[in-house]
Amino acid sequence: MCLLKGSYPQPNSCNLSSSGDLSPIVRRREWDVPQPFLSRERFKPIMQRKNRFDESEFAEVPSPCYVIDELAIEENCRILGNVQELTGCKILMALKGFTVPDLFPLISRYLQGTCASGLYEARLGKERFGKEVHVYAPAYDDFEFEEILKISDHIVFNSIPQWNRYRPLVEKNPTRMSCGIRINPEYSEIPVGLWDPCARYSRFGVRADDMRSVPEGIEGLHFHALCQQNSDSLERLVDVVEEKFGPHLSQVKWVNIGGGQLVTAPDYDIDRLCRVISDFREEHGVDVYMEPGEAVAFNAGVLLATVLDIVHNEMDIAILDASAWAHIQDVLATSYKLEVVGGEEPGRLEHTYRLASRSCLSGDILGDYSFEEPLRRGSKIMFSDLASYSVVSNNMFNGIPLPAIVIYTRSNVPKIVRRSRYEDYESRLL
Ligand SMILES: Cc1ncc(COP(=O)(O)O)c(C=O)c1O
Repeated sequence: MCLLKGSYPQPNSCNLSSSGDLSPIVRRREWDVPQPFLSRERFKPIMQRKNRFDESEFAEVPSPCYVIDELAIEENCRILGNVQELTGCKILMALKGFTVPDLFPLISRYLQGTCASGLYEARLGKERFGKEVHVYAPAYDDFEFEEILKISDHIVFNSIPQWNRYRPLVEKNPTRMSCGIRINPEYSEIPVGLWDPCARYSRFGVRADDMRSVPEGIEGLHFHALCQQNSDSLERLVDVVEEKFGPHLSQVKWVNIGGGQLVTAPDYDIDRLCRVISDFREEHGVDVYMEPGEAVAFNAGVLLATVLDIVHNEMDIAILDASAWAHIQDVLATSYKLEVVGGEEPGRLEHTYRLASRSCLSGDILGDYSFEEPLRRGSKIMFSDLASYSVVSNNMFNGIPLPAIVIYTRSNVPKIVRRSRYEDYESRLL
């Protein structure tokens, strides 16, 4: 997983076709999309503006808070839906990347189901999203597996011993589900080790040398090796998979090509994606599944925080009600620099601040930025593109409240779907 905000330009500044002539897919995209970013003036500042925003807009929403644009989510889903239509593949939403159940009814109109990393996600997918439930975990335990069996359509095993252990239960189960094995193509294009499933000594999947044939009873193969990439990376990955696992591909019914494709980013090459998937389906006679997480919520939400105090220790330090450690771990784990609306590199604009957390962890710093106007107690800070991963992976270190969740509905109404409560904290400990 990753939280990294890519260097992609904003939606609507895009031309997906590198040659300049619009392919059918690009035209589809332009016709179908209701253009939320252009028509919704009120929301435009949140997603598009690089400059400071009118803080009065957010006077009514709690802080810290994720603000998620329903129409932007729908635009992303339409794009993914088009890929399904054009290629015949099935797209699942990776719950690990984005889980806001209030938006499931909308998303499930476009996508085929969910993919889960274990029992809890699978249950949420089954109970709140509906449609297909696919589960993959690096290892199952016996208790959760019995429950997973009852609710899953596909179960993917990380190793052949795991398959051997659970095969008798699968075969005894009254409802039929399809089982797969995760393969490890040992092909890396991800520069950050934390996010690279194919790094040396990776625990994910069976390597080609360790799989002479497809184990009996296995109907599918699964691989996931990319993170925030474009379809040229997928094409190279698929070439490697074909080279290393070629003979196995015609022996299974389906192949899940994982996530890590930023399909909804403006410069993503959708034509190439469609070609790669269609060729793969045709050549190997398999159903293809894809399970993006971040692409579903790409550029569809922000994390809004408030300055609680400003202190000075050789530099100005703004203490926020948000935390890197509790809300955006990748900032600390990978030194990733977040994008702040209206914020520039330190020193570029007149007023430079270190944005730090209210937590007691010394290194809980969100980054150094400069602003045109001085910050003050109560100033709002908006971190771009933080709908995915941050929403699902935050924690309550120091008892810091979880950010609330606000959906900007299609009628421009900010709907608070989740407020932080003391009970959130207490129930994790009692
Ligand atoms: C197995 C698997 N599938 C899908 C995803 C979703 O990836 P992304 O959000 O980058 O599309 C991940 C992310 O870590 C994953 O590990």
